[in-house]
Order: sequence, then structure tokens, then C-alpha cells
Amino acid sequence: MTLEPALAELFSITKKRVENTLEGILPAVASEPSRLHTAMRYAALGDGKRVRPLLVYAASQAVYSDYASSDSAAAAVELIHAYSLVHDDLPAMDDDDLRRGRATVHKAFDEGTAVLVGDALQTLAFDVLINDEHIADCTKLEMLKWLSRASGVAGMVGGQALDIQSVDVELDLEHLEHMHNLKTGALIEASVALGALSNPKLDSDDFDKLITYAKCIGLAFQVKDDLLDIEASSETLGKTQGKDAAANKPTYPALLGLEGARNKANVLLEQALEALENFGDSADPLRDLAKYIVQRDH
Ligand code: IPE
Ligand code: IPE
Ligand code: MG
Ligand code: MG
Ligand code: MG
Repeated sequence: MTLEPALAELFSITKKRVENTLEGILPAVASEPSRLHTAMRYAALGDGKRVRPLLVYAASQAVYSDYASSDSAAAAVELIHAYSLVHDDLPAMDDDDLRRGRATVHKAFDEGTAVLVGDALQTLAFDVLINDEHIADCTKLEMLKWLSRASGVAGMVGGQALDIQSVDVELDLEHLEHMHNLKTGALIEASVALGALSNPKLDSDDFDKLITYAKCIGLAFQVKDDLLDIEASSETLGKTQGKDAAANKPTYPALLGLEGARNKANVLLEQALEALENFGDSADPLRDLAKYIVQRDH
């Protein structure tokens, strides 16, 4: 899909920024344990869309902060995300062999290494944020609270637990939404929160509106992921298509049908845009990102 101009500009600048940060903080292949370091780089520097770092930068732009104040937060959310993908693909979870257009970490390396890659990327996420000298300690603490909550049982890990216990189970809409909000929504929400927190003077009403926006697009992101699992090809996705149906996972399309799921994503997009009503042009990248999340093809 063609990107809106404000988003295309932000995309090209911030994708490079976060990839440079990651390149700099990931341990060198030449140092031991070299196999683990190589696999960490393979997982984190693979061809991802970088939606979560983009959200950090777009939210910080919406509240008039500079990019530098969000570099470590952007890298941190991408590291948590990359770790979650490595574990999500393991045989004990979704058992996938394709990710970001190439072999999953446990296929390219081995299962033990994949477990450790996830562990190491997770701790590196907290490390990069803790050691950022551009951010005041009180702001950093607030960012760490959001990031740790979104990553753990009250967020991604809790959602993944609900996901694996929902195989062959018919969830109602309320429980499905809860699972999606945790497994995918929480980290997306934290990405927006971390970007917004880069401006410590931000009005609390504006902060809350950004969080409402984030909750809507966070859920929309997983609804769209479930739709793409049916509608797209493995080649476009860079991951195996049709996994949800094959594993008999509860999804929005399974519960509401394709049309119902598409409508749900569009309603969430409208609600996300509504939450930004009082923001000026500085929130255009956030607006464009919301559209991208619902209209993307991979
Ligand atoms: C896929 O995330 C996993 C979900 C949480 C739905 P992305 O679609 O953001 O994956 P990458 O980072 O672009 O590979
Ligand atoms: C993954 O959901 C959510 C995570 C926390 C990683 P999926 O299992 O649907 O993600 P994909 O489709 O494998 O990327
Ligand atoms: Mg999964
Ligand atoms: Mg999966
Ligand atoms: Mg999926």
C-alpha cells in the first residue's frame, strides 16, 4: 500500500534510527557466546515492519518531543516484540518455521538457543532504557513501569498464556477481546505511552486521549493480523499463512466472519481517530499509522 506523506517521512527516518540503535546495542558476533549473539542479531534485525518503534516516535512527535528523547524507548519496545515472536514460534507454542521471510530462530539455530535469545532480548530491552542518559530518572521510572506491565502477566505474556489455553476452545467476544488486548494491545499501548512520556509536561487529559487511541489500534492490530492469516499469502506475510485455522485458534474472523472482523477493525480505526480530535497536525503520523495498521497487506 502507498503510505501517506507524513507517515512515509517518519517511516524512513525512524526505521533507520531504531535499526541503528539496535545495531549498536546488540552484542557483537565476534564475542562469546557467539552463537547466542548471532541468533539475537538474526531475530532483532530481521525484516520487521517496526510498527511499535514507529508508534513511539509518532507519539513523541505528537507531543512535540525530539526523536533523540525516544531512541531507547523505541529500541526497547522492538526488543520485547522481537523476543515475543521468537518464543511465539517455538514448537511448544505456535510451532512455526517461517518468520520475517526466513527460517524462525529455532529452525535456523536450535530450540535452546531460541529460548535464550528471547530471554536475552527481553532483558536487553530494559537495559537500554535504564542506561539512557537523555531521560530524567523519574520519566525513566514511569516508562519502565509501562514497559514491564505491558510485557508480563498483565500484558503480552498473560495474553500468550490465554492464547495457548484457548486452542480448541470457543471464546466469546469478550474473552477474545481480552486475550487480544493483552497479547498484542498492551505492548502497542506501552509504545504510545513511552512516546508520550518523553514530554513530562504533557497534560494528563492529552495523555489519556493518546492511550485511548492506542487501545483502539492495539486491538485493531491483532484483528487485522487474524484477517491477514486468512487473506494474505505466506510469501507476502513472510510467515506461515493459515496457522490460526490449522491450530483451531479462536480469532475475530472465526467468531464474526470476514466481513464482521473487517467492520470491527474499521470501527476501531474510527474510534482511534476520534480520540485524536483535539490534536493538531503534529498527530498526523499517528493518524496515518492507525490507517496503515488496518489497511496493511502484511
Ligand atoms: C506480529 O507482529 C505478531 C503480532 C503481535 C500480531 P508484526 O506484524 O508487527 O510483526 P513484524 O515485527 O512486522 O515482523
Ligand atoms: C502473536 O500472535 C502475539 C505475540 C505476542 C507474539 P500470533 O501468534 O497471531 O502472531 P503471528 O501471526 O505468529 O505473527
Ligand atoms: Mg501465537
Ligand atoms: Mg504465531
Ligand atoms: Mg497471527
